Amino acid sequence: MVRETDLSPADFIWPLFVVEGTGESIPVASMPGVSRLSRDLLVQQARDAFAAGIPAVALFPALPDSRKDSMATESVNQDGLLQRTVRDLKEAVPDLCVITDVAMDPYSSDGHDGIVKDGEILNDETLDVLCAMAVSQAQAGADIVAPSDMMDGRVAAIRDALDEHGFTNTCILAYSAKYASAFYGPFRDALDSAPKHGDKKTYQMDAANAREALREVELDVEEGADMVMVKPAMPYLDVLSIVRDAVDVPVAAYQVSGEYAMLHAAAERGWLDGDAAMREALLGIKRAGADMILSYAARDLFV
Ligand code: PBG
Repeated sequence: MVRETDLSPADFIWPLFVVEGTGESIPVASMPGVSRLSRDLLVQQARDAFAAGIPAVALFPALPDSRKDSMATESVNQDGLLQRTVRDLKEAVPDLCVITDVAMDPYSSDGHDGIVKDGEILNDETLDVLCAMAVSQAQAGADIVAPSDMMDGRVAAIRDALDEHGFTNTCILAYSAKYASAFYGPFRDALDSAPKHGDKKTYQMDAANAREALREVELDVEEGADMVMVKPAMPYLDVLSIVRDAVDVPVAAYQVSGEYAMLHAAAERGWLDGDAAMREALLGIKRAGADMILSYAARDLFV
């Protein structure tokens, strides 16, 4: 009766990795319990999660190098892996909310979220690629597109592009305060998407800055973001809390791959009670102000 916060399946967005093939479930070594799934298995698992009350999934395609190039050309292929997965999901579980990631990295031979030229990321040229990608995802049936690239001005550009193509009902969840973090390592293993050269510090945020997060969030809301995100979650609970106070739109937090991996690694060694630690970590994220939590553990908590 006096508890201030609780975790419910309705709070969660379940991130999923998809690969080509059928009957494929390829474990991610650094994320115990997480696999890259072919579309058939992914649809089954998403259906189970939806039945358990989880309203949304976020999709990430794991592509072979042969599908990657410097312009992320594959990202606008209507017959591409991601687009087919979205169509399968919307057909099989129409009320499941399907969220797609807008960024070049799963498709980029450079492993960056933007176009690379002479070692620099070209912000404005990248916006065209992101807009085409978002429209392609909306065409496939995505309910929410989630730009995770951290290019400046992308929310306004994507909103315009979606509207021009008639996708006025497609929402934008902006990765607004996304930090250049060491906690993304296992995710980059899952997609084989680590930057080939350099790092992401020229576009993702400096871990030292919290006020800057408010500026990023405010800009994205002005540009038309329907929801904003803070990422990672656990090392940035203070940022989450001030962002929650600063804006009226829903705020998401992403418990990223490294947060998931470290809790599981300690549990595997018997150093932590894994389930209790995971629930406590997620409760902390909710208490700090998250309306929605992206977590690889979402399904395990409720199914
Ligand atoms: C890429 C993207 C990343 C994550 C989500 N989208 C990685 C990155 O920026 O390198 C990380 C998620 C995780 O670590 O769980 N745009």
